[in-house]
Amino acid sequence: MSSRFLAVALSTSLYLGALAHGADAPLQKTLVTCGTCHGINGRSVSPTFPNLAAQQAPYIELQLKAFKEQTRADPDAQAYMWGMASQLSDGMISQLADYFSKQPPAPGKLEKPALIAQGKRLFEEGVAAQGIPPCASCHGAHAEGMATFPRLAGQHSPYLLKQLLVIQSVLRTAPVMHGVVKNLTKDQMQAVVTYLESL
Ligand code: HEC
Ligand code: HEC
Repeated sequence: MSSRFLAVALSTSLYLGALAHGADAPLQKTLVTCGTCHGINGRSVSPTFPNLAAQQAPYIELQLKAFKEQTRADPDAQAYMWGMASQLSDGMISQLADYFSKQPPAPGKLEKPALIAQGKRLFEEGVAAQGIPPCASCHGAHAEGMATFPRLAGQHSPYLLKQLLVIQSVLRTAPVMHGVVKNLTKDQMQAVVTYLESL
């Protein structure tokens, strides 16, 4: 047996082993599909695809329903997630939300300390002069999220930046966030998302 074959066999069995853990057959099958973009454990490689690991279950559930009902309608939501979500029953949506919320989070990336410090200040204090409230007041002191307030810690910064832009331009409807991001400049967005990815 060649070592290459062994390596493939081993990684396949690890992959299936990870899936088999506590997941029934229809869920496993769906997870293989989700995993091609989001990573089988919800930790994605490409920053186009958000990490789902350790995300709040009620938030995941709400977003999957928003894709299914086509109310989350920014271009990438339409291109990537509308078709996916249209196939999911409410029961499957709950199972997926539960599964991903229980996966260990992606490790934070530490770089650009000056920008991180600036972003941390904005996240914790907001900017009173621009009417921007502290992000931490909803997303939690460590950006861990709560219920339908999403976890932002460790999320890919290009994904977060894109969301702030589509929420600001109201391409993505997120009523609670619109007032918050209205006066946020692109530089401020870059600082806060760099901080969030570092967590
Ligand atoms: C072809 C790639 C692809 C596949 C397959 C895919 N997704 Fe996505 N998913 C995306 C992209 C891209 C986004 C970001 C959309 C945006 O920018 O609005 C996304 C966003 C999401 C979000 C919102 C995350 C957040 O932080 O708001 C959830 C939840 C989600 N996907 C769950 C799933 C589940 C569950 C499956 C499997 C049924 C799945 N996705 C399959 C590409 C994919
Ligand atoms: C009043 C509460 C509140 C405050 C303050 C708030 N957020 Fe949010 N945020 C939310 C809610 C609720 C959502 C989910 C919206 C939805 O359901 O689509 C959200 C979503 C987001 C998302 C999209 C996450 C994803 O995975 O797609 C980002 C990014 C974000 N907020 C960043 C921020 C930043 C940065 C600040 C501070 C400048 C901030 N938020 C302040 C409530 C808040």
